[in-house]
Amino acid sequence: MEKKKFYITTPIYYPSSNLHIGHTYCTVAADAMARFKRLQGYDVMFLTGTDEHGQKLQRIAEQNNVTPIEYIDRIVDGVKELWKTMEISYDDFIRTTEDRHVKRVQKIFMKLYEKGDIYKSSYEGLYCTPCESFWTETQLVDGKCPDCGRPVEKMKEEAYFFKLSKYQDRILELLETPGFLEPEARKNEMINFVKQGLDDLCISRSTFDWGIPVPIDEKHVIYVWLDALTNYITALGYPDEPEKYEKYWPADIHLVGKEIVRFHSIIWPAMLMSAELPLPKKIFGHGWILLEGGKMSKSRGNVVDPVVLINKYGVDALKYFLLREYSFGNDGVFTNEVLLNRLNSDLANDLGNLVSRTVSMIEKYDGGVIPNHDVTGEFDDDLIAVATGASARVEAYMDKMNYSAALDEIWAIVRRTNKYIDETTPWILAKNEADKGRLDTVMYNLAEAIRIISVLILPFMHHTSREIWKQLGIPEGEGTGWKDTFTFGLIKTGTRVEKGPALFPRIDIEKELAVLMSMEGTGNEKKADDKSDKKEEKKETSAEEPKAEITIDDFDKIELKTGKILECKKHPKADKLLISQVKMGDEVRQIVSGVAKFYTPEDMVGRTVTVVANLKPVKLRGEMSQGMILFADDADGSLKFVTTDAADGCTVK
Ligand code: MSP
Repeated sequence: MEKKKFYITTPIYYPSSNLHIGHTYCTVAADAMARFKRLQGYDVMFLTGTDEHGQKLQRIAEQNNVTPIEYIDRIVDGVKELWKTMEISYDDFIRTTEDRHVKRVQKIFMKLYEKGDIYKSSYEGLYCTPCESFWTETQLVDGKCPDCGRPVEKMKEEAYFFKLSKYQDRILELLETPGFLEPEARKNEMINFVKQGLDDLCISRSTFDWGIPVPIDEKHVIYVWLDALTNYITALGYPDEPEKYEKYWPADIHLVGKEIVRFHSIIWPAMLMSAELPLPKKIFGHGWILLEGGKMSKSRGNVVDPVVLINKYGVDALKYFLLREYSFGNDGVFTNEVLLNRLNSDLANDLGNLVSRTVSMIEKYDGGVIPNHDVTGEFDDDLIAVATGASARVEAYMDKMNYSAALDEIWAIVRRTNKYIDETTPWILAKNEADKGRLDTVMYNLAEAIRIISVLILPFMHHTSREIWKQLGIPEGEGTGWKDTFTFGLIKTGTRVEKGPALFPRIDIEKELAVLMSMEGTGNEKKADDKSDKKEEKKETSAEEPKAEITIDDFDKIELKTGKILECKKHPKADKLLISQVKMGDEVRQIVSGVAKFYTPEDMVGRTVTVVANLKPVKLRGEMSQGMILFADDADGSLKFVTTDAADGCTVK
């Protein structure tokens, strides 16, 4: 019989900088769902990728003095590496700069054009560059972009438009279809948005060229959302190699963050309606992971780096935490304390202890061999009912994208099984030879309940499942399938168990918090920055005070030279710093300066400056600095270069 198919996607991420735990969240959720469906026997297609065009990326690359593709290639390598570390089981990774995507997007554009749904006009609007979105006056919040809160600018340009308004009624009907857009709150938000009236959508730009050319007008590039959204079908080969497309489309679920629900539930279906293609079955808009101070952002320097946490606690622990701690449809706040408490209570105490106690007792009471189970007793029926009843409920929760409740359902078995140990008191049974039969059954039941748990957690934490199988002596494939979670009694009497290392070591939370506080990538960089800001402020004020006198010999120790700034870029990890390549005669040195508040990299390039040449080299936020460019405080509080007429490489006397 042909397997049922299941197609799931994540958004394609902007490779503007390395991804943080917020991006990881959606991908981990998609991965768990893909693994869950595979476990249930589905033929799964799981797609992720990167969204590589647009003005913002072009600008970032320019600031870094590289071509867009050079910049993007580096970030995309990092994204793929991250997914490898996190063991994300995607089936395909699409990059929108790939030929396969470019040519297919152009074909889709032509399809919509030939249908009469694309026309040329001019657009004047309020544009948010970072979000690449035009907004109407009424959509702004306090005059700023409603998505990111940054200022918008007025823009007018000739552009191609997609007749979104034509599809308004059908979109409204679609949004009202039960199950199409979840959670409910997002659905109501979108319905209200559409009811206010849909404007046609600008789908081309002519003020920059980092994009897919409009096939009928090479002055224009296709504006990002038509380019980005179509990835979900171009990756399947639509329209020229339709085999996979025909197999997997329509998608069962597009997982997206809440701020891009609008594009996925309104614009994307309208484009598909225009192309006369089937619509995705479900859009799910998940919440955001926030920090106590608000949004996580690279520019604010307060991101949580998933790799730092994986290196410390393991990939299973991080995945479990993300999906268990937060309710998927809502925002949640990340703190290290919440993370550590969750790892200790659920993983080290509940699950880890259960497995280690059980294996130890089987070793102690049964010589390490899973015994017979023919002396039933009180509590058995309840344990069996809880253990075999969970799968159906887990499935129901997963169908609703309620990961947290699904995991809680599995932990109900963990807790029930721990309680079963306390109720049956094996250590007392062991004292009386007459109770050996009952003791054996208790041991068997414990091992069997753990087997069911180990299969249920497979989509979320497969290393832990396999470690449990190893310790319980269960060969993969024997009682490790989804259907095996409905039946109690599959583990074989006579199986040899073997104690292994603790699944999750207990963490000393106080000590660990102190360690995390001092580390980068754990959400507290901002505080560290604040401290350094204060240090800098202090330095600035004390610079007003007269300094202690020095002798000419002291002064002589300073080697001042002239240098020409050849290149300059922003420091990738610190907003205040610029990194310059300074030519001083025959040598070129890298010098980091804290002047980004006053100068852009473009301002710096070409200047001939005065440099303290014999300053001991230091690393500033990971970047080597070999010297110091001198600046003078101007009366208006700005900084001015200490300039010179001399050529570079001269000694200043
Ligand atoms: N490129 C577009 C998506 C195009 S899909 C056809 C985009 N990229 S993004 O990199 O800015 O965001 C990708 C996803 O990451 C979004 O769904 C967004 O919600 C999610 N997240 C970014 N930061 C997040 C958190 N802090 N928490 C949870 N998800 C967040 O938008």
